[in-house]
Amino acid sequence: MSAKPDIRNYMKTLIPEVDRAMDRYLRTDIDIPPQLLEAMRYSVFAGGKRLRPVLVIAATEALGGQPTDVMPAACALEFIHTYSLIHDDLPVMDNDDYRRGKLTNHKVFGDAGAVLAGDALQALAFHALADSALPAPRVVQMVAELARASGPAGMVGGQSADIEHEGQPVSADGLAYIHRHKTGALITAAVRLGAIAQGADEGTLSQLTVYAQAIGLAFQIVDDLLDATGTEQLMGKTTGTDAKAGKATYPALFGVEQSQKMAMDLTEQAKSALLNAGGVVNREMLMAMADYLSLRDR
Ligand code: IPE
Ligand code: IPE
Ligand code: MG
Ligand code: MG
Ligand code: MG
Repeated sequence: MSAKPDIRNYMKTLIPEVDRAMDRYLRTDIDIPPQLLEAMRYSVFAGGKRLRPVLVIAATEALGGQPTDVMPAACALEFIHTYSLIHDDLPVMDNDDYRRGKLTNHKVFGDAGAVLAGDALQALAFHALADSALPAPRVVQMVAELARASGPAGMVGGQSADIEHEGQPVSADGLAYIHRHKTGALITAAVRLGAIAQGADEGTLSQLTVYAQAIGLAFQIVDDLLDATGTEQLMGKTTGTDAKAGKATYPALFGVEQSQKMAMDLTEQAKSALLNAGGVVNREMLMAMADYLSLRDR
C-alpha cells in the first residue's frame, strides 16, 4: 500500500533547513549596517509560508536531486519574493500595514528603510545563487533564469501593469498578463531553477514550465479570492483591500464562484502537464503541491 504523500510533513522538515540557510546569509558578523540588516531580517523571518523554496526543492527532488543541491537557489528565490512583498506594501504601491502577521516593513523602518531592505535582498539573492556549488554552466543558466523572472519581463513587469490598471477596466487577457507576471513568474522560476539544477533536458523543462505556469496563475487567483473572502488572522495581512484600491482581480472580473472554478481547472491542467513530463523520477510532491497551493486558506 503506498502512503499518500504528506505535504505538510514534507514542508515541516524542509522549512527549518531553508530558514537556517537564509540565516547564514544574514548574520551580524557580515559587513552590513545593523539597521539595514535588522530591516532585512524583520521581513525574511516574519513567518512566510516558504512555498517558493519548497517548490525549488520539490522540483529538484522530482528529478532525482537532493535539497542541498539547490539550497542557495531556494534562499535566493525567497529573498526576491520577500523584497517584492516589502516594495508591494509601500505607501506608493499597495499601501498595506500588515504582512505575515506583523506591521509591514515601512511601518517599522520607514519608507527609505523598506526600499533599501528590498534592494539589498534583491542583490543578496543573486549573490547567494551565483555562489552555488553546482557546475558553473548550470549556475549561469539559473542566474539568467532568476533575473528574467524577477525583472521587467517578469515580476516587476507584472507589478507595473498591476499598478497601471488600478481603478481601470481590464480585459481577461490583461488580467491574466498581470497575474502570470507579478506572481506566476517567480513560481515558475522556482520549478525551473530546481529542474535546471539537475540538468533537465528541454522537453522535461518545458512540461514542468506548463505545470508551474498553471499553478502560478492559480496561486494568484486564490490570493485574490482570499483577499475577498479570507480570514485576516490566518492570512496575516489586511483583507478586502483589493476592492477598495480598485485592483484588477479575478473575483472582480469573473465573480467568486467562477474564479474558484478557474483555479481548480488550472490545478488539474498543472497535474496533467506533470504526468506528461518525462525525466521526472518522483512526481508525488509536485502533484501534492499543486493541490496544496489551490486549496490553501492562508
Ligand atoms: C503573497 O505570497 C504575495 C503573492 C504573490 C500572492 P505568499 O502568499 O506566498 O506570501 P508569504 O510568503 O506566505 O508571506
Ligand atoms: C503581490 O500581489 C505580487 C507581488 C508582491 C510580486 P498582491 O499585491 O496581491 O499581494 P498581497 O495580497 O499584497 O500579498
Ligand atoms: Mg500588489
Ligand atoms: Mg499587495
Ligand atoms: Mg493580494
